[in-house]
Amino acid sequence: MQILFELSKEHPTLPYAEIKACLNAYNIYYEEVYHNGIFVIEVKEKVNWKKISHRIAMSYSINEIVGYSIEEMLDNVEIESTFKIEGGNFELRKKIGKEILEKIGKKVNLEEPDTIIKIFDENRIYFCREIAKIDRSSFEKRRPFQRPFSHPTTMHPRIARVLVNLTGIKEKEILADPFCGGGGILIEAGLIGANIIGVDVKKKLIEGCRKNLEYYGIKNYELYNADMNKIDFGKVNAVVTDFPYGRASHLSDKIDKLYKNSIKKISEVTSKAVIGLPSLNFTDEIEKYFDIEQIHCARVHRSLIRFFYVLKL
Ligand SMILES: C[S@@+](CC[C@H](N)C(=O)[O-])C[C@H]1O[C@@H](n2cnc3c(N)ncnc32)[C@H](O)[C@@H]1O
Repeated sequence: MQILFELSKEHPTLPYAEIKACLNAYNIYYEEVYHNGIFVIEVKEKVNWKKISHRIAMSYSINEIVGYSIEEMLDNVEIESTFKIEGGNFELRKKIGKEILEKIGKKVNLEEPDTIIKIFDENRIYFCREIAKIDRSSFEKRRPFQRPFSHPTTMHPRIARVLVNLTGIKEKEILADPFCGGGGILIEAGLIGANIIGVDVKKKLIEGCRKNLEYYGIKNYELYNADMNKIDFGKVNAVVTDFPYGRASHLSDKIDKLYKNSIKKISEVTSKAVIGLPSLNFTDEIEKYFDIEQIHCARVHRSLIRFFYVLKL
C-alpha cells in the first residue's frame, strides 16, 4: 500500500523530518518513494494511521493512494455511500464526479461524505482516499495566551510538538525538559502519553508550569525547582529543550559556561536529544558528546531564530 502525507509548507525541513520520526516511533517499516511537498511511502503492514495522525503537528492529512489515473482510481476506491473530491482543478473534479456517479453509482455529499477523494498534482497526479486529517486547530487552542500561565519565552505548541516528535519518544517513556519554563514542551510531550520531567531555576515558572500541566489533565509529571546542572533527575529516554535566551552575537561568559555544562549534562542523562540554541556557535561543543543527526533553523517568535539540533549519543 502506498501512503501519501500532505506536508504543511510552513517549514522547509521539519514536516518531513517529523513524519519520519513518527514512523520510527511506531516501528513502522517503510520504503521512501517520493518527497517534495508531499511524502510518499510504501508499507507492507497494516497500520493504525488515525492513531499516528493524533500525534503529528506539521502536516495536513494522511492518504492512501488509490491510483495514478481516473480508471485506476475507479477500480480501487471504495465508497460506502457518498463522496467529496478535493484538490485538482474544477474540470478534473467535475469529470471524476460524473464518472463515479455513472460507473459506481455513488453520489456527491459536500457536507458529510463518507469518503474524501483527494487529488495531488505534484511530480505526477496522485488519486487518493483520505485516511486521517491532522487536527491543526487543537494546537491553536493551546497557544500560550490560552493557558492559565503564560510566559514570553514559551514557543508555539506546534513547534514544541514537532521537537518532541523528532526524538521518536514512545508512550510511557520518559522525556525531560531541563529548562522547562512554563512547560510549552512538556505539555506536548505529556499529551502524547510520555512521562515527563521538568526543571527550572525559577520558582514562579515551575509553579506556572504545574498549573498548565494540570489544566491539560496531564498527571504523569515530576517538576523540580533547581539549577539543572546541580540536580540529579535520573536517566531519561529523551531530552527536548530550548536553552535560556542570550543573543547570538554577545553571549555573556556566564551563558557560555551554562551552555557548555548543560550540553555535557544532557549527554549524561540521555542518548537522544533535541535542543534549541540561538546560534551554531556550540556545534563543536555538542560534537564532543553527540552525533548531530539534523539541524533545523526555525523562527520561534517574531524576531527570534533558533537552531534545533537533533542529537544521538
Ligand atoms: C527558553 S526558556 C524555556 C521555555 C519553555 N521551553 C517553554 O516553551 O515554555 C528557558 C528557561 O530556562 C530557565 N533556566 C535558566 N537557567 C537555568 C538553569 N541553570 N537550570 C534550570 N533552568 C534554567 C529559565 O528560567 C527559563 O524559564
